[in-house]
Amino acid sequence: MRNVKTLGLLGTGVIGGGWAARALHFGIDVIAADIKPEMEEWIRGAVANAEPALARLTFAPLPPKGQLSFTTDLKVMAQRADFIQENIPEQLPLKQRMLAEVSRHAAADVIIASSTSGLTPTDLQRDMASPGRFCVAHPFNPVYLLPLVELVGGQKTVQDTIDAAAKFFTYIGMHPLHVRREVPGHLTDRLQEALWREILHLVNDGVATTGELDESIIYGPGLRWAAMGTNLIYHLAGGESGMRHMLAQFGPCLKWPWTKLEAPELTETLIDRMVEGTQAQAAGRSIRELERLRDDYLVAIQQVLRQYNIGAGATLRSLEERLYQEAATARAAQSIDPDKPLRLLDTVVRPEWVDYNRHMSDFRYSQVFGDAMDALFRRAGVDETYRETGRMYYSVENHVRHLGEAKAGEPLYVTTQLLGVDDKRLHVFHRMHRGRDDKQIATADQMYLHVDTGAAKAAPADAKIRAKLESIRSKQAGLPPPPEAGRAVGRAQR
Ligand SMILES: NC(=O)c1ccc[n+]([C@@H]2O[C@H](COP(=O)([O-])OP(=O)(O)OC[C@H]3O[C@@H](n4cnc5c(N)ncnc54)[C@H](O)[C@@H]3O)[C@@H](O)[C@H]2O)c1
Repeated sequence: MRNVKTLGLLGTGVIGGGWAARALHFGIDVIAADIKPEMEEWIRGAVANAEPALARLTFAPLPPKGQLSFTTDLKVMAQRADFIQENIPEQLPLKQRMLAEVSRHAAADVIIASSTSGLTPTDLQRDMASPGRFCVAHPFNPVYLLPLVELVGGQKTVQDTIDAAAKFFTYIGMHPLHVRREVPGHLTDRLQEALWREILHLVNDGVATTGELDESIIYGPGLRWAAMGTNLIYHLAGGESGMRHMLAQFGPCLKWPWTKLEAPELTETLIDRMVEGTQAQAAGRSIRELERLRDDYLVAIQQVLRQYNIGAGATLRSLEERLYQEAATARAAQSIDPDKPLRLLDTVVRPEWVDYNRHMSDFRYSQVFGDAMDALFRRAGVDETYRETGRMYYSVENHVRHLGEAKAGEPLYVTTQLLGVDDKRLHVFHRMHRGRDDKQIATADQMYLHVDTGAAKAAPADAKIRAKLESIRSKQAGLPPPPEAGRAVGRAQR
């Protein structure tokens, strides 16, 4: 498959907009096609709305954002795109017709994927040119924050298509789940619909309101589901003998049965109950307000899960690992200028980094210096693989001086001078500068100790790591020592 530089979108509604925001954020250009010219304004708005939450998802160094362009001419899109994602309404004849048309304009090595929620790939690829490069790639709303994408091949899909699509989606921070057998509704919508059907029954039978049913999820199972699915959770619920005991205990209930398979008739009364119930839950909040709230907690949950390296948090962690690695590789390729400290980090003050004075909060200075240090470590080879061997540098002393302010949106950069390296110790001095006027706004004088985490004590660093750090230090040996290095904290008059 081609290296994907430009993603083509067919249909730019809710899902097309979500794909655009995600791809642009991770540095992919997007050419969006829709039959309605007014969708250009809509998609630009959708991308802008997604940005605040996306910007907080990760602080890892991102490539420059992609460029968005729009056309009402499907052919223009098909000829410029390296990968095409279809997101038009869920109607089989319409999708078949449009996919066939797109496939005649796109080069044969361009993968064409469909966001369909439940149509099967064999049906969709029926009239396409080169149908082997087609697959279903079913995302979840909001596409820019939820990593899951179900990949499903049809009878004519070749394995390379699934593999290449998985690679692309991973690149833009997603978790591709290969659905090995095509079934209507794929996997997730089958599960979601089963739950929804029971909700409709319970509302229809007057057992509970939509709000009560949502409470039954969000205070209980919903919290568990974010990191362990129903099966693993039930395994835990069975005690020491796990799933076997769980099935023995609750198996009979499945026969009673507690649930109803067929959906209820969507009568006017049921529709009214569902609509009135959800309006009461919204309590006057607009869809936009609720979307912002949803986006904020989705970001926060993924960041918590990242600490446990589980579920969507594991996806985020491996994405960040790659982004840090790429940035470190790009910087390592730059030769060290012996006349200047190393420029290790370029960043921007994010809106949520500022305090009530509208300046960057003091703890964010430590975060930015920490990111610079991370870049130095990677450059020296202290990365995830090294840490897995149970060795790491720990910070043991840190003196930050605050000399100026930075406001939201201001570019910053950090330069670093290595003052001392030995078997176990690493002494560094960072300067943080404001991008607009190069003013030095903070310094950090830091001492790190190399630790064997298993033994919980200081231990010599790997010889290769030490040699790399030593090589940087010796190239910087001609730089004047920073006057602030080694300074003590000023004492107030007693
Ligand atoms: N909304 C969801 O939660 C969700 C989630 C996952 C997948 N999906 C799937 O994604 C697809 C799109 O859903 P949506 O919610 O974004 O729909 P939508 O109605 O918001 O957007 C569809 C867009 O397609 C455009 N369109 C219609 N015919 C077209 C044509 N011939 N050429 C180009 N553009 C055309 C419309 O103008 C509209 O902008 C569907 O297949 C749906 O099943 C939806």
